[in-house]
Amino acid sequence: MAEATQPDLAVALGRLRLSWPTLMGSGCYGSGEEYAPFIDLAALGGVVLKSVTRHPRLGNAAPRLVSTPSGLLNAIGLQNPGIDAYLENDVANFADRPCAVIGSVAGFSVDDYAYVTERLAARDEIDAIELNISCPNVGTEGETFACDPSLAEAATRAARGVTDKTLIVKLSPNVTDIAAIARIVEAAGADALAVINTVRGMSIDVDRWTPRLGNANGGLSGPAIRPVAVLAVWEVARAVKIPIVGQGGIETARDALEFILAGASAVGIGTGNFTDPRVPLNVVDGIRDYLAARGHSALSEIVGKANPRFAGVR
Ligand SMILES: Cc1cc2nc3c(=O)[nH]c(=O)nc-3n(C[C@H](O)[C@H](O)[C@H](O)COP(=O)(O)O)c2cc1C
Repeated sequence: MAEATQPDLAVALGRLRLSWPTLMGSGCYGSGEEYAPFIDLAALGGVVLKSVTRHPRLGNAAPRLVSTPSGLLNAIGLQNPGIDAYLENDVANFADRPCAVIGSVAGFSVDDYAYVTERLAARDEIDAIELNISCPNVGTEGETFACDPSLAEAATRAARGVTDKTLIVKLSPNVTDIAAIARIVEAAGADALAVINTVRGMSIDVDRWTPRLGNANGGLSGPAIRPVAVLAVWEVARAVKIPIVGQGGIETARDALEFILAGASAVGIGTGNFTDPRVPLNVVDGIRDYLAARGHSALSEIVGKANPRFAGVR
């Protein structure tokens, strides 16, 4: 008897083709080296690397991570060695990753975004660029770009001007109208959108009368933010035609399917990897089973199917 063909789970984000619709969230996966003993990295769509800036950053005061009910607050503060040291010491190690490797760029000026994008994208080891205009843990300046339409546009346009590689722009949920920002970023040349980065939050130690994070406030991730993220994808999917990488609290295939049915073409998995490195594998297996059981031959057939005003291209 002929073996049934498996549903096609491949996804295109601009020029970047992913074998699987799963990207590991920036800052949550290194470049995969610590997970490689536990899972086959070829089973991932790709890894989004930790965000890198023009100059080295030591990051925020400890504690930088605090657990909350169904969530994780972080205020790492974009610790990274800066683009010079990163290119010299780190990037060559990413050459043999059997999945897509996506560089993540953070900055504090439009020129920073252009400069770091150009230098990172010039490397063959880097398949695509994600623009982190939405980091909530670096004072007020980190999120300014995602929260100000003209800065979001300028940063995107500047990065677009220096690379032909796929440009994914990562949006913040900490805005009044995420769809409006999405439209502007699409018009400025983004190939895809990552929706969402963390949600601003805080936790207080009631015995010591101090915030529990060294930085006082931070970004909330994990299952606690999933409904916020699904709604953001739903709204963005009505506003733009470019593909969306939906993320925020995904731990199972059914979580991922919520994002896909809202309009995401692929999903990001960050915090879920901390509790179980097999989450990305289970998500792919579960989506495949779900499609097969319903007689679908490709993931693209169900993108946005719960969203009557889905505007994107399947
Ligand atoms: C510890 C930690 C560090 C993170 N660092 C970055 C980062 O450097 N750049 C970035 O764009 N997002 C960063 N994020 C956000 C994640 O990539 C992801 O968008 C967010 O956590 C929501 O997804 P999740 O609930 O699956 O983690 C970080 C998240 C965590 C928990």
